[in-house]
Amino acid sequence: MIIAVDGPAAAGKGTLARRLAQHFGLGFLDTGALYRAAALRALESGGDPADPAVAEAAARRVSPEDIGDRRLREERVAQAASIVSAIPGVRAALLQFQRDFAARPPGAVLDGRDIGTVVCPGADVKIYVTASLEARAERRFQELRRAGEAVIYERVLQDMKDRDERDSARRTAPLRPADDAIVLDTTDLDAEATFQAALAAIEKKLAGKHRRDAR
Ligand code: DC
Repeated sequence: MIIAVDGPAAAGKGTLARRLAQHFGLGFLDTGALYRAAALRALESGGDPADPAVAEAAARRVSPEDIGDRRLREERVAQAASIVSAIPGVRAALLQFQRDFAARPPGAVLDGRDIGTVVCPGADVKIYVTASLEARAERRFQELRRAGEAVIYERVLQDMKDRDERDSARRTAPLRPADDAIVLDTTDLDAEATFQAALAAIEKKLAGKHRRDAR
């Protein structure tokens, strides 16, 4: 079984995807970490992450071990990830790893921006998790504060807006819900309510699929 979880930053996809993976006994891949790892490698090389040659070389060097690096969570890396991820060669370099991961039995939950549209268009279930810009900025602000970072809400809001625009406006694999995605707005939902809503929607979807398969 493959479950695709897509959506903008800080909508709650990571938390939801992890819980779904645990619930269904599936693998879990945070695909944003791959783009962040490519961005970090590009930054570390001293080159410009917006330069396709630099970014593509960095993406080709990404390995599964990179995913655990704590520096991937830094805001400078998030911004650079949004830049390198608009480069088609970077996306191409990371595509097969994601597809191979999804194909491994018993299946997986992948979270990202283009899982339902590009990486796994045949996924059994597609969920598009979203929330208002303000709610997402507030969540990210609280997260950074808890981590001890000196942050200004207006700055977090602006960074989130910039990233949304870049992720949605790019020509290759832009952020958008797949036509057959279940859309979940988490503006007024906490993690538990989001999980319960997703579970109810998935069970309904799978029951419909089983009925169709039985016919
Ligand atoms: O989900 P995240 O914040 O870790 O993602 C970091 C950046 O990577 C994000 O700005 C867009 C990009 N990304 C992508 O283009 N496609 C994915 N499947 C996952 C992330």
